[in-house]
Amino acid sequence: MTRHCSILVILFGTVCLLFWACRNESALRTVKAPFEDFTVRCGVDTTVVLKNRFKIQFKAGSLACDGHETVNVRLNYLMRTEDIVLARMHTRDAQGRLMESGGMFKLEFPGGQRINPNQPVTVTVPADFTDNDMSLYTMRDVEEGWTSADKKPLVPDQTDIAEGETLFRKNCIDCHCKYLRDNMTGPALGNIHLFRDSAWLVRYTRNSMAMIEKGDALATCLWERWKPTLMPNYDSLTEVQIAAIYRYLRNESARLDIQPDEVFFPVDCERTIVTPTTDTTRRGTVVATTTYSGYVVEVEDDEWINIDKVLYLNRRIDPILVHVEPKRGTETSVFVALPHRKVVAFCYELRTGLFSNNFSSEPVPFFVDEPVIITAARYDAKTQKLLEFETATYVTRKTNNEVHFNNYRAADEKAFVQAFKNQRENIARRGPRCEGHVGQ
Ligand code: HEC
Repeated sequence: MTRHCSILVILFGTVCLLFWACRNESALRTVKAPFEDFTVRCGVDTTVVLKNRFKIQFKAGSLACDGHETVNVRLNYLMRTEDIVLARMHTRDAQGRLMESGGMFKLEFPGGQRINPNQPVTVTVPADFTDNDMSLYTMRDVEEGWTSADKKPLVPDQTDIAEGETLFRKNCIDCHCKYLRDNMTGPALGNIHLFRDSAWLVRYTRNSMAMIEKGDALATCLWERWKPTLMPNYDSLTEVQIAAIYRYLRNESARLDIQPDEVFFPVDCERTIVTPTTDTTRRGTVVATTTYSGYVVEVEDDEWINIDKVLYLNRRIDPILVHVEPKRGTETSVFVALPHRKVVAFCYELRTGLFSNNFSSEPVPFFVDEPVIITAARYDAKTQKLLEFETATYVTRKTNNEVHFNNYRAADEKAFVQAFKNQRENIARRGPRCEGHVGQ
């Protein structure tokens, strides 16, 4: 069977150039992932909120165990792109399509207990934003990639996002860029929640004219900057509806990965950052469940579960040629990550002296002009220890995609993660734009 991937790997240092297609062998070995351990009591309803913000709910009958036995549970999770790479996992489905991950996890019971399928464990996977297109995938057939599980559809734990989107599209996008990054007839609204008080936003949207008349400093300043265009009043919308619009804008800003310093603002009505009083997005904190945003998943067994959506790509690019040099006693893996979307394609594995001739020249479409991080990592063929790595940032083009690796660094995992982070921060921020924008 042919495996499709747009990345071909060239080995140099050998007599001839060889083209290799992607292989998914990595999934066959034990996955090393961050984890949190906790205990629950048998026969009691229990809700656990972990440091990593996962919420896990056990029903009294969820676990097949006796009396009031204490059960050890381990949650393995892969939430960051670099962790997915380090675990040598990927986000391609069984057909080779690229998917965007909303997080991967696996529940484990070291004591061997099993989940009662009639009383599944409910896991809420934390998310800074929720996306209605996400669905569940499980790593059933590890070699072929993630397969969509025939489970109930995912419930994003945030119901008014869709309503906010409808209201925004109906009332606002004639003047405000729907991609939120650019000024149009009205100012860009990306990350507006960071710069304006939420009560002010509701009042302003309902009746900005009255606020200007009353001499509200900010409203007057905005009017001075944008006149003669005046923002209409929306007093036909309720406060609840307007709040839903701003929740949608917040969610959408995170989804589009708009950075706080990215949206243009005029110096005269400077947008200063308002620190939110309840911060629900910080890592490592136990959060109140009321403002919780995430995906609700019912878990019946101990396999890897991935929250994903298939990326709809409309343009094909030529294969990216990745040059790696083989080294005795090592395995080289190449990962291609789209850092803004949490997409990881695991693309190649070579064990020196054990070449597979799995040729494939049929490329899978990538985005054109999309920044990617390509990492070549060398592992000890016996111990699977990460030995050295090199990462490169790259912006995909329609043709002539080529990357050379010849400058490996000795690796500890921290340096690896840091390199990944640095590369991501260096990447020019991109996203869809509104045509004819007037931003500076
Ligand atoms: C007819 C064009 C138009 C429409 C439609 C419109 N706006 Fe505006 N909006 C503006 C203009 C222009 C400004 C700048 C202030 C001014 O001139 O009144 C503005 C300013 C704003 C601001 C202030 C930005 C800041 O820096 O604080 C917010 C928030 C806002 N609009 C939200 C909305 C929302 C939400 C909707 C839909 C319910 C909407 N606007 C519909 C034109 C529009």
